[in-house]
Amino acid sequence: MTLTTTSFDWVRHLVHKESAIVLQPGKEYLVEARLLPIARQAGLTDVSQFVESVRIRPDADSTRRIVEALTTNETSWFRDGDPFTALTSTVLPSLLGARGPNERLQIWSAACSSGQESYTIAMLLEDALPNAASRVSITATDISREMVERTRAGRFSQLEVNRGLPAPMLVRHFTRAGTEWEVAPALRRMVTASQCNLAAPLPRMGPFDVVYLRNVLIYFDLPTKQAILRRVRDLMRPDGWLFLGAAETTLGVDDSWERVVVGRSSAYRPLKGK
Ligand SMILES: C[S@@+](CC[C@H](N)C(=O)[O-])C[C@H]1O[C@@H](n2cnc3c(N)ncnc32)[C@H](O)[C@@H]1O
Repeated sequence: MTLTTTSFDWVRHLVHKESAIVLQPGKEYLVEARLLPIARQAGLTDVSQFVESVRIRPDADSTRRIVEALTTNETSWFRDGDPFTALTSTVLPSLLGARGPNERLQIWSAACSSGQESYTIAMLLEDALPNAASRVSITATDISREMVERTRAGRFSQLEVNRGLPAPMLVRHFTRAGTEWEVAPALRRMVTASQCNLAAPLPRMGPFDVVYLRNVLIYFDLPTKQAILRRVRDLMRPDGWLFLGAAETTLGVDDSWERVVVGRSSAYRPLKGK
């Protein structure tokens, strides 16, 4: 049986309420494909039947699994390249010049997925700064418990390391662990992973010098994007740097940011007085 309208609408509203992710009508195929494995684990072969059972008697674990299944965790190492080149070419020298020698730099990977973004940043810092872990901390957050656990574990399959990780970096920063690759302890010491829903009031964190908020705003409606950008700005240093995904911008969304060109990338900086 294909997904009923009632089931689809219930899932759509649940996902929006819990994560702010917008699932437009027409995404029934996506809901069905993502929920089928969970339905099967519950002993059901029909997604509508599974959704109905949770709708009638909701439990926290099933609703969390439904929401998490509808997040898109697509990611890779050095995704789009330029926002990471900008970190070492411009952002880091500028921050090191502006901060005292004992001030810790704080970087936030705000929708970290399975951790490739956070460890990309960690590798660059480890290569650029002597004893980087004593100078920089990286906060990695995601709404998905599973993604946070994966980031914490710092283990990646061969298929995953094949997606954008240069071989010399693999050799330098990873060790083999069975069929997987494990990030070096020095990188793990830099990264702290925790669950955080960007669409809800944020925990006390930061203040951050650099925020990577990449490839996540695309899933939200305009008021949610505005609220998130406002909340993120509140956790940033006044001279901080924000990197968004290639298809994302603050322009026409929130005018309290200045867009600056950094090499071949764009960054956004809090505008004073806004
Ligand atoms: C496409 S991935 C982007 C990963 C990484 N930033 C990158 O650019 O490769 C989007 C991530 O956003 C997370 N996400 C979706 N809604 C969220 C929310 N409301 N709060 C926090 N994270 C969310 C998803 O779980 C997913 O891991």
